[in-house]
Amino acid sequence: PMRRNSRGWDLANPEHLEEIEAARRPFRATRFEAGPLIAGDTSPDDMMERESPSDPSDVVGEVRFASRTDVDTALDAARTWKASKDERSAILKRAADLYEQNFGEIFAVLAREAGKTLPDALAELREAVDFLNYYAEELLELNSEPQGRFVCISPWNFPLAIFTGQISAALAAGNAVLAKPAEQTTLIAHLGARLMHEAGVPAEVLQLLPGAGEVGGMLTSDSRINGVAFTGSTETARKIKQAMADNCDPSATLIAETGGLNAMIVDSTALPEQAVRDLVQSAFQSAGQRCSACRCVYVQEDVAEGFLEMLTGAMDAFRPAEPWGIESDSGPLIDAEAHVNIASYVAKAKDEGRLIHQTDGPDQGYFLAPALVKVKGIHEIEREVFGPVLHVATFKAKELDRVIRAINSTGYGLTFGLHTRIDDRVQYVTDRIAAGNLYVNRNQIGAIVGSQPFGGEGLSGTGPKAGGPFYVPRFQKPVTPDVPE
Ligand code: NAD
Ligand code: ALA
Repeated sequence: PMRRNSRGWDLANPEHLEEIEAARRPFRATRFEAGPLIAGDTSPDDMMERESPSDPSDVVGEVRFASRTDVDTALDAARTWKASKDERSAILKRAADLYEQNFGEIFAVLAREAGKTLPDALAELREAVDFLNYYAEELLELNSEPQGRFVCISPWNFPLAIFTGQISAALAAGNAVLAKPAEQTTLIAHLGARLMHEAGVPAEVLQLLPGAGEVGGMLTSDSRINGVAFTGSTETARKIKQAMADNCDPSATLIAETGGLNAMIVDSTALPEQAVRDLVQSAFQSAGQRCSACRCVYVQEDVAEGFLEMLTGAMDAFRPAEPWGIESDSGPLIDAEAHVNIASYVAKAKDEGRLIHQTDGPDQGYFLAPALVKVKGIHEIEREVFGPVLHVATFKAKELDRVIRAINSTGYGLTFGLHTRIDDRVQYVTDRIAAGNLYVNRNQIGAIVGSQPFGGEGLSGTGPKAGGPFYVPRFQKPVTPDVPE
């Protein structure tokens, strides 16, 4: 379908920067509030303060999680969206416009609550707007019925884009949505849900149930639900699948988009300057907190020494800093727990003599400086390390097939990157790598809605790809194909 591009800003243009600054400044010290948005009386749990991960002395706001009673009330009150396809489409597009108009508040909350740099916050808003507009067009082609009550559970790393993408697809299909955002990013989810209500989505069609995994567990183990759209870790997806198997109707749908152990191959013909730039972005932008991020690079042995020298130099020029500032290349890790986990992973690598390089980072909040860790191969990485840690392995020219087998053997299959200037090799490698999104001679993050549908296979997800033509139909009842007489 025809797509409208979301509004963009040129961050190198001082006038655009001034416009952004003027719009977000009023929210620099605001104490935001968020809680359940349900079609009925709410009796939420106790209030908690949310501190900014880049500066824990900055209290961004106060959050109340949904209680068991709230979950029950919401499930009973939920209604599918009876509006016509044209009305639904118009309301989703209105929501996209409202998101764009409220960019100042959105950028401020994304920086303070989620530690998003300005370029990341801008990309996040654009992706959310693109999802709304894309699915608003897609729904006009639908020819089946909504499934019923759809639970949408989202992660903190794309707290507006993925939150909005799941919900807008489920709404486009006409479902009643019960949204459970990540506990770390309730404030931005609350703002998004409010804007969708303001656009015209009825209160009983979209309800927000903030909370930790426990609230997600209450929803996904309730026999009243008909489907779940989940984005998060592979481990949580397994628990949800089990909860649904034990409690829900066998026809209930699970759409799960999960973790990755993503690799890049750089051969001796690659343009090193470009490969280094793309690798630094892929591994360290957003503090490595992207499911798509590169976790392991295989560099051909012949060029490895020079390549690593260039890479460590580029890492030294990469500046994690207070995300509000335009000069920041990356924000902090999301919370204290993530900081402890990743910092101890790097410390262990150092003790074992495997830490090749770590840059200096700001000594505040939950910042962690980018690190480079040596491995023999991707099989040595036991889990998805969700932070700014890049593993490096080398390979000989004749070992390309072994490398491909090793990458596939992780069982994950989300993104993959290849840097080479041999055309035949592009075909050879991409034909053999099992991954949802393959990127050649560029970075491996930042898929664009409509152009690069995003999603993995194996341990990385069930499909269908978000931002692609097969996504919204999965939120409806399957259509039985006509059987010729
Ligand atoms: P997570 O699995 O810990 O949490 C995700 C969501 O699930 C949160 O809202 C959480 O509260 C909820 N949850 C936790 N336990 C639950 C349970 N038992 N039942 C129901 N809901 C439960 O993941 P995270 O730390 O928020 O996000 C990071 C992970 O997400 C990484 O593994 C990353 O790769 C993955 N991710 C994948 C994609 C993708 O498109 N494939 C995109 C973004 C993030
Ligand atoms: N869609 C996000 C990316 O491509 C996860 O980085």
